[in-house]
Amino acid sequence: MFIQNTIKFLNNYMDNFKGQVAMVTGAASGLGLSIARKLLNSGSQLALLDLNKNSLLNAFDNFPEQVLCVGIDITNQQLVENSVAEILARFGKIDILVNCAGITGETNLKSHQVSTENLQKVFELNFMGSFYTSKAVIPNMISNNYGRILHIASIAGKEGNAGMLAYSASKAAVIGMTKVQGKEYAENGITVNALAPAVIQTPLVDAMPETQVKYMTDKIPMKRCGTLEEAANLAAYIVSPLNSFTTGFTFDLSGGRATY
Ligand SMILES: NC(=O)c1ccc[n+]([C@@H]2O[C@H](COP(=O)([O-])OP(=O)(O)OC[C@H]3O[C@@H](n4cnc5c(N)ncnc54)[C@H](O)[C@@H]3O)[C@@H](O)[C@H]2O)c1
Repeated sequence: MFIQNTIKFLNNYMDNFKGQVAMVTGAASGLGLSIARKLLNSGSQLALLDLNKNSLLNAFDNFPEQVLCVGIDITNQQLVENSVAEILARFGKIDILVNCAGITGETNLKSHQVSTENLQKVFELNFMGSFYTSKAVIPNMISNNYGRILHIASIAGKEGNAGMLAYSASKAAVIGMTKVQGKEYAENGITVNALAPAVIQTPLVDAMPETQVKYMTDKIPMKRCGTLEEAANLAAYIVSPLNSFTTGFTFDLSGGRATY
């Protein structure tokens, strides 16, 4: 009986995404890729945006009907607007936006050593990119009186990681935007939330200095990294219709590091 009920629950849960259209940025790698796969397996149609179009095509070329792959630099606002127009022409609506495209920029540096140019580059993608995509999709969500937006922030944005000024500040800005947008669209059927992971082993983390990664993982009470499956499961819940009374909130995914 327990197993039958569990299967029934999972089937109902998966049905939640049938007929929905999800736009995911940074979907060629890491969190974006695993969230896109989860939504695809749950019946969503997908518009996937990434600098790396070849990787998108390699991962999703078996699903030409269900998936649109767009090679795009998210920091170019005009290209973001053009892509949203293309997605609306193809699928007719956008129910879900998940913003995963992000970079750490240079790390393991104190603030006085940070290059202004590198800090601006990090902000341009991590904050402005998420602003451009949400600005472009929200009018369609308002007209449908439904939407789910998830910005991938970071524990660094809540707590501030020493050695990571640009990244931490850009993610704090994303959390601030989430709070604002959550309130602004609360009466439009749109929820806007953020997710704050600690460390999940992806190419983004692989590229960081070992001492910086050790600094971050040592702070996790569970003494392990999060998994891509754990990130995708929580993200899928946040953007599902089940998550209907939580908005402007930053969900924790930190193995106990940020219990607030
Ligand atoms: N991995 C972690 O431990 C961790 C922790 C906290 C937050 N995050 C956040 O999660 C998100 C995903 O990180 P990840 O670890 O999966 O990284 P990743 O490097 O594996 O994937 C990032 C993707 O973004 C794409 N991208 C980079 N610049 C782009 C641009 N200008 N336009 C379009 N696409 C671009 C890359 O091609 C890549 O496919 C990021 O916002 C990151 O800050 C990750």
